[in-house]
Amino acid sequence: MLTRRILGALVGATALSLALSVPALAEPIVIKFSHVVAPDTPKGKGATKFEELAEKYTNGAVDVEVYPNSQLYKDKEELEALQLGAVQMLAPSLAKFGPLGVQDFEVFDLPYIFKDYDALHTVTQGDVGKMLLSKLEAKGITGLAFWDNGFKIMSANSPLMTPDDFLGLKMRIQSSKVLEAEMNALGAVPQVMAFSEVYQALQTGVVDGTENPPSNMFTQKMNEVQKHATISNHGYLGYAVIVNKQFWDGLPADVRTGLEKAMAESTDYANGIAKEENEAALQAMKDAGKTEFHELTAEERAAWEEVLTPVHDEMAGRIGAETIAAVKAATAE
Ligand code: LMR
Repeated sequence: MLTRRILGALVGATALSLALSVPALAEPIVIKFSHVVAPDTPKGKGATKFEELAEKYTNGAVDVEVYPNSQLYKDKEELEALQLGAVQMLAPSLAKFGPLGVQDFEVFDLPYIFKDYDALHTVTQGDVGKMLLSKLEAKGITGLAFWDNGFKIMSANSPLMTPDDFLGLKMRIQSSKVLEAEMNALGAVPQVMAFSEVYQALQTGVVDGTENPPSNMFTQKMNEVQKHATISNHGYLGYAVIVNKQFWDGLPADVRTGLEKAMAESTDYANGIAKEENEAALQAMKDAGKTEFHELTAEERAAWEEVLTPVHDEMAGRIGAETIAAVKAATAE
């Protein structure tokens, strides 16, 4: 009995001393990934996929925390937070890089610059895309990838069939001078506003309308507060996934390799679902029956193009004529 008790005490003591001598496991490196859209969108799903793969390929050395829906920061704040190191990863819309001083990204906002996803990919998956991402380095940011969303719908509470239908309408835009020029060309009054505020602004009439791909329009319930929408596909909205450069460069090499693999795979995933997600969102909004969806006739589309394409020349000074030429050369068939 006594021996058993001593034995028990000895086993306990050994376990304790073992526990004390084993060094505490290193805390995982936390990557806060902040974004402004719903989890159930191409970007939201891409971020979730990255979280899963990053943790897997680094064997848990990294803990990715995804904060969707502007939970942590709104549009402009999140870029400041990244530069300050309060978050490590973002995927802002390409229309939101102007305030960082990288105006070339507004090339993606030019009306009708991409005919379809294939044309877009010649840029985002090619040399021009690499050149654009490299411009971020000087701002303390490393660009990792481009993620697709989709082509935009114009919406309001009145039908938008001809440029004249926009006269005097207050239209919410992202913080891009190209989008401002686009709305001015249509005779509308552009209003820059954070994404998280759009639904309420539409509901209360602070703005009359907006533009967004179907997935954003649907997941923010904008269709519940817009009576009309035109499937105009007049412009594109997509993302660059970016990290704080100092953070990224300071990672152990093997961790960074794991994260690069996770990013490559989640990029393929996000870009593989974007088109379908947008088609499904459009269908869901049609089924919901709150918004009347309009298609343009060839003649109406030509009238939009006539008014909107001069924005390319108007904005060449801001974006950089060389950048616009590089995108046009890459997409030329
Ligand atoms: C918007 O502000 O309309 C979009 O940039 C939101 C997003 O991230 O897709």
